[in-house]
Amino acid sequence: MLKEFLIYQNNELVFLSDSSSISLTHLVKNYQGPMFFYNRDFIRMRTRQMQTALKNVKLFYALKANAHPQVLSVFKDENVGVDVVSGGEIEHAVQCGFSYQSLVYSGVGKTKAELELAIQNEIYQINVESIPELYRIGEVAKKLGKKANVAFRVNPDISIQSHPYIATGLKDNKFGIDTNQFAEVMRVAQENAAHLSVKGISLHLGSQMLDFSSLKDSLAKLKPLFLDLRKIFPECHRFDFGGGLGIFYEKQDLEMENRLLNEYAATMFSEMNALKALVPDLELQSEPGRWLVGHAGVLLAQVQYVKVTPYKEFLILDSGMNHLIRPSLYEAYHGVHKLSANGVEKTYDVVGPICESADFLGKNRVLPEMKQDDFVVIRDCGAYAASMASDYNLQRRAFEVSN
Ligand code: LLP
Repeated sequence: MLKEFLIYQNNELVFLSDSSSISLTHLVKNYQGPMFFYNRDFIRMRTRQMQTALKNVKLFYALKANAHPQVLSVFKDENVGVDVVSGGEIEHAVQCGFSYQSLVYSGVGKTKAELELAIQNEIYQINVESIPELYRIGEVAKKLGKKANVAFRVNPDISIQSHPYIATGLKDNKFGIDTNQFAEVMRVAQENAAHLSVKGISLHLGSQMLDFSSLKDSLAKLKPLFLDLRKIFPECHRFDFGGGLGIFYEKQDLEMENRLLNEYAATMFSEMNALKALVPDLELQSEPGRWLVGHAGVLLAQVQYVKVTPYKEFLILDSGMNHLIRPSLYEAYHGVHKLSANGVEKTYDVVGPICESADFLGKNRVLPEMKQDDFVVIRDCGAYAASMASDYNLQRRAFEVSN
């Protein structure tokens, strides 16, 4: 098994997967501006690894992580569904060849028009996030003469060790339905039973999880709710435990990540197998995003200026928080490499062209000495990079290419 995936061969950076070795240097031959490169072999490798570890679990890729059509094509080939969170994402997934019956629709703010689109087309599952949303789903389904397929997203009030901005399972988060409101949820669902098909329960604790004790506690907490629901709605048979499995940003260690994947799977199965004994038709679902695509993308950018002050050396790139906001927003770490490995090592702050001091991609990074027009490769930009990009300062979007 591969441990590192971005390595130098003959001083040039190459991108490895289990089936290919791709030179990044040839990508900048006709450089027109900052560019995301997505390695589809890598995405396929990760998808298969996850399918093996989460055997018999239906995967719904969280499209918000990376919506590029070429990326989606891998999931289509590998029979993975899609987790969507807006009408825009629904339309995009359908345009990319996914059927409505392969979409799980999450999100706290679904509008009437978005619900009409989903329910009219008999979407596979709507993860309901609040009681007023449940009423609205009932009304829309009634008007359309349809039965909406719903699952209730529960907020277990359990924290995970991650950045507070990407934790979602606590009672002061806007996500999911409080367990204390479940009796009312069941009452409203019964009232609207003619227009609802209650398929199951869902959970998403947050993102970048590297420890699974909170997942275990949450699954344990949700099991009795699931059984209560099933007593009233016998068609309730799906348990969707969300996404959130984390990756390493500061070091490259795919072997360790696979061990964590197996630990994650073991934690989940140890809780769910007991439920399976009581619910023979139980179907397990997951909504992974980052784990599948995070490492699979790099951002290639060019040094515009090496700015030396009495205090610092800045590498000023043609790309910054407009293309990759994660360092500015979450103080997230992304590895920065020089495309060609030669030069004595120096320490740089790697920054972008945007008129904000928060516009940095990496601080105090040790890199081989760089000069104007050299290229850098920013690691782990496959998830939540291009999908969170903006036009701020009216800078152009980065190109997105894949193999
Ligand atoms: N399911 C739901 C309902 C979600 O909200 C998310 C992510 C996922 C699945 C996928 O989670 P993943 O497996 O990718 O952790 N922008 C942040 C991450 C925000 C995640 C939002 N929800 C970042 O750059 O770290």
